[in-house]
Amino acid sequence: MLFFVSLALLGVVSSAVAQNMSLCDKYTTALLMENNATNQYTLLTLLVNTVVIGNYTQPNKNAVPGILAKGIYKGEEVNLLQYFDGSLKSSNDGGMSGVAVNFLDDGGAAPLMMNKPANGMNSQQYFLLTHLYQFFGKLLGCSGYSMMGFPKYSGDNMASVHAFMDLDPSELGYFITQVGLAASSFGVSSDDVNAVAMALQKLFGYRCSPPAIVIPEMGPTLNSICQNDKCPLDPMAQCSAYPNNGVTMEPMMANGTNMSIPSSTTTTPSSTLKASSTTTTATKSTGGALAERVSMGAAIGMVVLVLMV
Ligand code: HEM
Ligand SMILES: *[C@@H]1O[C@H](CO)[C@@H](O)[C@H](O)[C@H]1NC(C)=O
Ligand SMILES: *[C@@H]1O[C@H](CO)[C@@H](O)[C@H](O)[C@H]1NC(C)=O
Ligand SMILES: *[C@@H]1O[C@H](CO)[C@@H](O)[C@H](O)[C@H]1NC(C)=O
Ligand SMILES: *[C@@H]1O[C@H](CO)[C@@H](O)[C@H](O)[C@H]1NC(C)=O
Ligand SMILES: *[C@@H]1O[C@H](CO)[C@@H](O)[C@H](O)[C@H]1NC(C)=O
Repeated sequence: MLFFVSLALLGVVSSAVAQNMSLCDKYTTALLMENNATNQYTLLTLLVNTVVIGNYTQPNKNAVPGILAKGIYKGEEVNLLQYFDGSLKSSNDGGMSGVAVNFLDDGGAAPLMMNKPANGMNSQQYFLLTHLYQFFGKLLGCSGYSMMGFPKYSGDNMASVHAFMDLDPSELGYFITQVGLAASSFGVSSDDVNAVAMALQKLFGYRCSPPAIVIPEMGPTLNSICQNDKCPLDPMAQCSAYPNNGVTMEPMMANGTNMSIPSSTTTTPSSTLKASSTTTTATKSTGGALAERVSMGAAIGMVVLVLMV
C-alpha cells in the first residue's frame, strides 16, 4: 500500500488571507510579497541556510543554533557536524559501506550568510544545499517547484542518502527542532511549525518505513532516515525492503578510530558513540521537542496568523 503524504496538504488553512495555499506559497507571500517561483526558491534558501548555520538574518523572532552546532535533545548530546565535515565515513557513494565526504568544501558558512548555497556551483556543498532547497520546497508545496526559478529535486531518496549514518531519534529530533526554530524565526506560526515537525517525524522518523511517494516524479521511495535500533519501528514496517534488513551500523571515524569503543563515561553505549565530547555544550536547543508540543489546537484548518517580518 502506498501513501501519498505531502506537507502541502497540511498547508490547507481556512484563513481568509491564506485560503488554502501551501505553506511555501503562504509564507512566500507573507515575507517576500510576490508569490512566484523565484521568491519561493529564495524563501527555501533563507530557511535551509538558517537550519544549517543558525540564524543570520535580521530581523528575526528567535535564535536558531543550526544543525552544525552541538546541542542537547531530550538530555542527549547531539553533534551532527561530524556527518558533514568529513569526520565520519557516513556518506553513501553507492558502495557497500560509507565514505567520508566534506560537505563544507566550498566556503562553509560564509556564502550561506550571503543567501547562497556555496561559493561555486560544482562542489559537495553546492549540491547538498541546492538539493535541500529543492526537496524541502516540494515538501512544503511550493507551487513554482520545477518551474523556471525553482529547479526540481535532483538528489537521491532519503533512505539511500542516510543509509550509512545510523541516525538515532535524538539526532533526527535535533534536526527537526532546528527546522522548526528556523521557520519560527521567520514568523511561521507555531501551528504550522508543529504540523511540519509532525509530518517530518512521520515521514522520516520511523525505522523500516514502507515505500511512499514523497517527491511525486520519483515514484514510491524508501524514506526512513532514522534507522538506528532506538528509532521507533514503523507500524507498517518493511525491513526486508532495506539493505541488511534495515539493520544499520555505527559509521567509522574517517581517521580510523572505531567509534564503537566506548569512552570512560557512564552514558549508554549508543549515546557515547555519538557524543564526541562530554564537555558542556556551546549551544542548547531552546525549542525542545517540537513534535511533542503538538496540541489539538494544531489541527489542520485553524485560522493562522501570518506574522509579517
Ligand atoms: C527531517 C529529516 C531530514 C531530511 C528531510 C533530510 C533531507 C536530506 C536531503 C534532501 C539531502 C540531499 C540528498 C542528496 O543530495 O541526494 C540530505 C543529505 C544529507 N543529510 Fe539529511 N535530512 C534529514 C535529516 C538528517 C539528519 C538528522 C542528519 C544527521 C547528520 C542528516 C545528514 C545529512 C547528510 C550528511 C547529507 C549529505 C549526504 C550525501 O549527500 O551523501 N540529515 N538530507
Ligand atoms: C484550494 O483547494 C481546492 C480543492 O482542493 C482546489 O480546487 C483549489 O485550486 C485550491 N486553491 C488554491 C488557491 O490552492
Ligand atoms: C518574481 O518576482 C520578483 C519580484 O518580487 C522578480 O524579481 C522575479 O523576476 C520574479 N520571478 C519570476 C519567475 O517571475
Ligand atoms: C540570532 O537571533 C538572536 C535572537 O533574535 C539574536 O540575538 C542574535 O543576534 C542573532 N544572531 C545573528 C548572527 O543574527
Ligand atoms: C580521530 O578523530 C577523533 C575525533 O575527531 C579524535 O578524538 C581521535 O583522537 C582521532 N584519532 C586519531 C588516531 O587521530
Ligand atoms: C568496532 O568496535 C566494535 C566493538 O568493539 C566491534 O564490534 C566492531 O567490529 C569494530 N568495527 C571495526 C570495523 O573494527
